[in-house]
Amino acid sequence: MSQPIQSARSCWSPRGWRDRPAAQQPVYDDELALAEVEERLATSLPLVFAGEIRALREQLADVAAGRAFLLQGGDCAESFADFNERAITDTFRVLLQMAVVLTFAAACPVVKVGRMAGQFAKPRSAPTESRAGTVLPSYRGDIVNALDFTADARQPDPRRQLRAYAQSAATLNLLRALAQGGFADLHRVQQWNLDFLRTSPQGERYHDLAHRISETLAFMRACGLDAATEPQVRQVQFYTSHEALLLGYEQALTRQDPSTDDWYDGSAHFLWIGERTRQPDGAHVEFMRGIANPIGLKLGPTADPDMLVRLLDLLNPDDRPGRLTLIARMGADKIETALPPLIRMVQREGRQVIWSCDPMHGNTRETGNGYKTRPFARILDEVRAFFAIHRAEGSIPGGMHFELTGQDVTECVGGAQAITEQGLADRYHTHCDPRLNASQSLELAFLIAETLKDYRRATAPEFPREPA
Ligand code: PEP
Ligand code: CO
Repeated sequence: MSQPIQSARSCWSPRGWRDRPAAQQPVYDDELALAEVEERLATSLPLVFAGEIRALREQLADVAAGRAFLLQGGDCAESFADFNERAITDTFRVLLQMAVVLTFAAACPVVKVGRMAGQFAKPRSAPTESRAGTVLPSYRGDIVNALDFTADARQPDPRRQLRAYAQSAATLNLLRALAQGGFADLHRVQQWNLDFLRTSPQGERYHDLAHRISETLAFMRACGLDAATEPQVRQVQFYTSHEALLLGYEQALTRQDPSTDDWYDGSAHFLWIGERTRQPDGAHVEFMRGIANPIGLKLGPTADPDMLVRLLDLLNPDDRPGRLTLIARMGADKIETALPPLIRMVQREGRQVIWSCDPMHGNTRETGNGYKTRPFARILDEVRAFFAIHRAEGSIPGGMHFELTGQDVTECVGGAQAITEQGLADRYHTHCDPRLNASQSLELAFLIAETLKDYRRATAPEFPREPA
């Protein structure tokens, strides 16, 4: 399993991307300050370690083979202002709840990856934004500049990278404590229910499921099965991820592992290439082909099969299972025409990939009252279509990628709470794209669990059968 990846990456260096066109990079006025920041990051500790990254790659190989399911989610953009224990704990908790719903319903392990502890840099559709005749640089995430529409705030400042690094380190520290220090013990499955959810239909449904899990654990203990005290029950493995957009930052945190000579980007376990930066000759693909982390590639409706094969050759030339996750973000109205040709091409080429579904980014709409939103119904339509397409093509629906938060925000319309366009103004807090709130996330997990259960029943021989 551990044959060095580097053999297939000759002529690669962490700074090689600098000779390629790099889309979506900020323009820094103060080059000296930028160089100093990158130098400081290059001598800072990596946030994650090679052994953990390899463990994730092995778990993702199980996803690629249909033996596990990938759940990836978190903020669209983390921010300096919303950095607090409550927000991190609530998002972690809702991801745990979703994972438990999926694991229990589909009798299938769930690999949990947060868009957390480093998800700061944002691609933008235009380099500048104008309001009432004033033109300023676009907001590119707190790691680059600030959201306020003033010249000062919008000026890219390299020192923000140090703050993003420090915040990522602290977030990861809390996540590790939550994952391994008792909070995530399956015996506490009831307590993960968020207070504001308890009396909602989702909360009650979760309560029933948690009760069944508690009964199962008690039954196992009564039978003398010590599985109930295994580390898998007492702790969870939780991984971090973000879009590898700001390449100077990613380069600075990349280190060579002395035991394998492979290069690992120590900023997160999993990194992905965004829809706007997947040019085969571009800087992002050049950087990402050389790191040994598992990586993702976003694919929007304009992705064509030939370009995809080129990217597979560049990003996963040895065809390692678990290395590459293709994250389709087509939109509910386009997935049926855009996804099947890509799946067929991957099958024709006999390549190993994980197919994941991001039902958020292709379903964004502007409302009459000026909010960016995503209708819950469209999100669900895209998820359902994703499963149906894979069923028809004989390929594996391997995972889901969401923008969500554990907070009770009002950013996506619809769901059981029936959030309306007028209601969006109540608690619209995102720094970038609209996120599912905790109730909508859980509702979606229950709906996906049903679909995943049907899929597993039809395809997995070990899935428990109903008595005849
Ligand atoms: C994102 O995941 O926040 C994002 C910008 O996605 P995409 O690259 O798919 O547009
Ligand atoms: Co987004």
